[in-house]
Amino acid sequence: MAGTIPVITVDGPSGVGKGTISQLLTRRFGWHFLDSGALYRLTALAARRQGVAFDDEAGLAWVARGLPVEFRPQEAGELQIFLSGQEVSRDIRTEQAGNDASRVAAVPAVREALLARQRAFRQPPGLVADGRDMGTTVFPDAPLKIFLTASAEVRAQRRYNQLKEKGLDANLRSLFTEIAERDERDRNRRVSPLRPAEDAVVIDTSTLGIEEVLAAVLAECRSRLGMQ
Ligand code: DC
Repeated sequence: MAGTIPVITVDGPSGVGKGTISQLLTRRFGWHFLDSGALYRLTALAARRQGVAFDDEAGLAWVARGLPVEFRPQEAGELQIFLSGQEVSRDIRTEQAGNDASRVAAVPAVREALLARQRAFRQPPGLVADGRDMGTTVFPDAPLKIFLTASAEVRAQRRYNQLKEKGLDANLRSLFTEIAERDERDRNRRVSPLRPAEDAVVIDTSTLGIEEVLAAVLAECRSRLGMQ
């Protein structure tokens, strides 16, 4: 059954614009959306709240398996995220939460524990899955796999602009260092490292605006899936 439900996987490093592109596709096609990074962020947050140390692999896997999470779609297309009934949509978006997520994501038992939960998002009429290993590990049979890249400098600058637009404090140099460290960890971990699937379409977005990236992705959706 799951094999007949189409999935578009959108993978790549942090700050490359995967979230924006995935949500635009989700809305355009009226499909379901998996924000797999949110599951790793939630696991890290729940572990902190329950006092489970980041080097306690069995404890982290236990937290990931029992994650009491609920995703509630809002009218504007945004998702509200609840952990144990408490809204944490903003708490999981901090730089700290992202770095914590990258650390717990390096634990093989955590990845294993989240696998079935991620695959359960594959529901008719289709799924857009955003992450690092959607095309390689979670949905290896996806009929369209997109891998977005951009230099760490460009991604740090984009993140800096986003934070400034929101009126938040930001330091370009430390954002760059954090992004470079996170890339290093995500690319070099033992299980499901960040890399394009062999059959992925790789798009370098360093010199492209979001409209241009979307146009390139939509062209692939048309040619490979017949989606308009
Ligand atoms: O996409 P994001 O920034 O929300 O992801 C946060 C961290 O979670 C990222 O640094 C690596 C990890 N992650 C992962 O290992 N596999 C995924 N499919 C998604 C995220």
